[in-house]
Amino acid sequence: MAQSSMAMLLIVAAHIRISWSSCLQEAIPLERRKNLIRNGTSQPLGIWNVYGQKFQVDTPVAVFQILVEEVLGYNVFVDSRGTGNMAHAFYALAGCEQPENAQNQSCTGRPTKHHVSMALHLSNNISARHFDKVQRMKMGGMLEDLGSVGFVSQSGIQISSSTLQRGRESSDPLFLDDFRSYDSRFHSPERFFQDFRDIDKNLLLPCRAWDTDPEMPFYFNATGDAEGFNVNFSRAECFGGGDGRWWLAPSCRSNRRCLPCITGSSDGKWAIYPVEIMQKAAIWRMPLALGVAHYNGSSAFKELVMTYRDVLFMFWAPSVEFIEISPVFVRFPNFNFTQWYNGIMASTRQGEYPRHVVSNELMAMAPDARVMLQRMKLSSEDLNRMMLRSYSLYAMDPCFSCAAWNGACAWLENNRNVWMPWIPQKTACFAGQGMYDAPQLQNLEIRVDFGYP
Ligand SMILES: *[C@@H]1O[C@H](CO)[C@@H](O)[C@H](O)[C@H]1NC(C)=O
Ligand SMILES: *[C@@H]1O[C@H](CO)[C@@H](O)[C@H](O)[C@H]1NC(C)=O
Ligand SMILES: *[C@@H]1O[C@H](CO)[C@@H](O)[C@H](O)[C@H]1NC(C)=O
Ligand SMILES: *[C@@H]1O[C@H](CO)[C@@H](O)[C@H](O)[C@H]1NC(C)=O
Ligand SMILES: *[C@@H]1O[C@H](CO)[C@@H](O)[C@H](O)[C@H]1NC(C)=O
Ligand SMILES: *[C@@H]1O[C@H](CO)[C@@H](O)[C@H](O)[C@H]1NC(C)=O
Ligand SMILES: *[C@@H]1O[C@H](CO)[C@@H](O)[C@H](O)[C@H]1NC(C)=O
Repeated sequence: MAQSSMAMLLIVAAHIRISWSSCLQEAIPLERRKNLIRNGTSQPLGIWNVYGQKFQVDTPVAVFQILVEEVLGYNVFVDSRGTGNMAHAFYALAGCEQPENAQNQSCTGRPTKHHVSMALHLSNNISARHFDKVQRMKMGGMLEDLGSVGFVSQSGIQISSSTLQRGRESSDPLFLDDFRSYDSRFHSPERFFQDFRDIDKNLLLPCRAWDTDPEMPFYFNATGDAEGFNVNFSRAECFGGGDGRWWLAPSCRSNRRCLPCITGSSDGKWAIYPVEIMQKAAIWRMPLALGVAHYNGSSAFKELVMTYRDVLFMFWAPSVEFIEISPVFVRFPNFNFTQWYNGIMASTRQGEYPRHVVSNELMAMAPDARVMLQRMKLSSEDLNRMMLRSYSLYAMDPCFSCAAWNGACAWLENNRNVWMPWIPQKTACFAGQGMYDAPQLQNLEIRVDFGYP
């Protein structure tokens, strides 16, 4: 594995572009690109990028940007935000002046500077609530959901390939990518993992910082583990006294070594899915110690996983974050809607299909860009290919947007058959823009090409 990634890096290195002003040979030159015109104002097509600096979104954004600039011929402006907050994107697309101010987004009905946002998760409760709120600001709605980006995004407990392999090749083998192998009544999975007490606890949040999770009551309801559910995380189950940083599952609370499972936190307070991990540990009798990596400015999460390696960790795919250890998911029973609806998280979390969302104004200003986005579907394989490319470029030159752009460009050059069908015909007529056929009182579907665009 190490050798083949090194070979890949070398091949990629030979293809780095010095200039990234244009990617495709047939690119419409810079000076012929146009702005969006609406009611006397002229502006580039604006993209609100919710997760600046994450390849699984930045590479698709770059693919869209390149096609809009070089094939459709519009100027593009990408506004990269780092927070991953979906709600901000909705307010930005609605033209609110302070989309990131939760107290007052300042939505005064101005035309928006941001027209497109990609790979938004709409199904969770908070996103859905803000989406509806923004839609109600105007008759007919402010936003348009143009459908799935194509790939599924899945979160769950993962394990590195090398730990997995050691489990499989042991004289007393265990298949560590299957939840049943962690059943403490029959197996000793902990022998393949780091001792949690050896992990640097300064990189972890104290339990009391994350035990306020609003889902915490679901833990007691689903497991009946009264000892493990305590608003104060009292001593016994949070290892190490009042300053404890590890929550111990019932099956290893006494007389047994726990194996470490690590999750991240988003702002030094909110842990990522701790209750899901706790429930799975209790229900499937997994001997886990749960620790939450602190986040102050940057996350200690990656450092923890990459340093100790023989740990379980909560993360999502597709992603290149942990590519060096080729992680795989630990499989649990298939997603069970009834159980999750009732707060029981024993089965796999539901996968999400991230979506393209645009401002309603896009239809009038750049109907061809809107149609192209609607057709733009990326499979997980496509996404992985462009992310890998970007990631290996980033390793050599830490300019994130350059790496994402170059990865997207390489993919575009090699996959014309995938994206050519996304491009609307130059002669297509869009509502309000075509010639009007007076006798038949309808827009013609195709017009003669008078030099459009
Ligand atoms: C167009 O601009 C004028 C003047 O700025 C404004 O009064 C009007 O409401 C705008 N119309 C639309 C549809 O935005
Ligand atoms: C929200 O912010 C805008 C612009 O900063 C301001 O004019 C408005 O009064 C504020 N509204 C509230 C309710 O604070
Ligand atoms: C969604 O959020 C609302 C308001 O906070 C809450 O009443 C409702 O129970 C939540 N629904 C789910 C499925 O979590
Ligand atoms: C826990 O279960 C009790 C009894 O079934 C119910 O009243 C309560 O709402 C449940 N709490 C949560 C957070 O699901
Ligand atoms: C939590 O801690 C507070 C003060 O430290 C104490 O008064 C309370 O009884 C504790 N609650 C539980 C459930 O242990
Ligand atoms: C980060 O936060 C943790 C826990 O809140 C704290 O112990 C640590 O000192 C902080 N690290 C930095 C570099 O600020
Ligand atoms: C889902 O969970 C419910 C409640 O526990 C159970 O009755 C049902 O059989 C489960 N469905 C599947 C497909 O396992």
